[in-house]
Amino acid sequence: MIKLTPPMGWNSWNTYGTNINEELIKETADAMVETGLLDAGYDYLVIDDCWSERQRDENGRIVPCKEKFPNGMKAVADYVHSKGLKFGMYSCAGNYTCAVYPGSFEYEFIDAATFAEWGVDFLKYDYCFKPYWQQGHLLYKRMGFALANCGRDILFSACSWGVDESHKWIKETGAHMWRSTGDIVDSWKSIVDLAQKQISLQPYNGQGCFNDMDMLIVGMHGKGNVAIDGCSVEEYRTHFSLWAFLNSPLMIGCDVRNMSDSTKDILMNKDIIAINQDSAARQPYLADNNPNVMTWVKPLEGGDVAIGFFNLTDSNQCPFLPFDNIGLNRSTGKALQLTNLWTGEDLGVFKDIYRTPVMEPHTCLVLRGKLVDAK
Ligand code: GLA
Repeated sequence: MIKLTPPMGWNSWNTYGTNINEELIKETADAMVETGLLDAGYDYLVIDDCWSERQRDENGRIVPCKEKFPNGMKAVADYVHSKGLKFGMYSCAGNYTCAVYPGSFEYEFIDAATFAEWGVDFLKYDYCFKPYWQQGHLLYKRMGFALANCGRDILFSACSWGVDESHKWIKETGAHMWRSTGDIVDSWKSIVDLAQKQISLQPYNGQGCFNDMDMLIVGMHGKGNVAIDGCSVEEYRTHFSLWAFLNSPLMIGCDVRNMSDSTKDILMNKDIIAINQDSAARQPYLADNNPNVMTWVKPLEGGDVAIGFFNLTDSNQCPFLPFDNIGLNRSTGKALQLTNLWTGEDLGVFKDIYRTPVMEPHTCLVLRGKLVDAK
């Protein structure tokens, strides 16, 4: 399998942590269809940590928790598939998962075969409890081999948190996405921290293996497993725009059975999703060196360009983009016709430079630019 655009879907961890069960997963699958999330592109439903029994069975096979999943995982996968969704699960390269359930260390091939049997389409593979003498890249390579030979197309979602210089070796393992950050929590500070740490990692981001900035916190509003302070709607909009802009997989983490209208509007903005899912899948770049008021630029298929201004500071800002910084100086005779992707407003044609209106703290402005002749 080659993944040409960042994966999209939902993952159980951010809101539910250990409180997962068959009923919740079925209701989530229903909600993903009924709310329009599937139609918007969110097609993977992923169960994170805490789904198994604490012990393997006598044949070394991993066993779903009988209380949480009384009908086993194949039944869950069948239900998820019946809704037109794909089914994802979680394991770990170490002896245990991060919540101390059995990990896949030295059970890689058995587990890959089990997942294939159950009808799994996506495996998130964590990095806790790795024996200290083992090299991480070899453990990811083992699971990479196992998945590639399990007889089913399973998307390999590596979760090595950007540590051990994993940006240098993760693509060798067969991973289709890799966690380039530590864990997200539901707070503005976490959004800023994770986004700033991504700046130097963009050259590793692209078609086949996307930098994963962790699951989205949009719509959590301080409730759930990784809740801290919660964020405002504007902050969630900025977070979503940043993740979309930086080619991160878009894995929803809120309770999709109970989304507010503002949460739906953010998660299902077609124009922002189109930047994330652009078929050229170019890495974005910073048009200047300011990590606090970021100006990201991403060349799009067909010649358009996406421009995102992100005010991560606590004060008003008016950033500007000299077009020279993106390869369009005056000698080209070209200008940009700009559209605001959150409001749909056509802002007109700009030559040489674009200056934003006053941007309030924690807000963003995401534009799509079309090349036109300068008059
Ligand atoms: C790690 C991962 C998280 C989540 C938890 C589960 O912390 O980075 O995304 O999967 O483990 O225990």
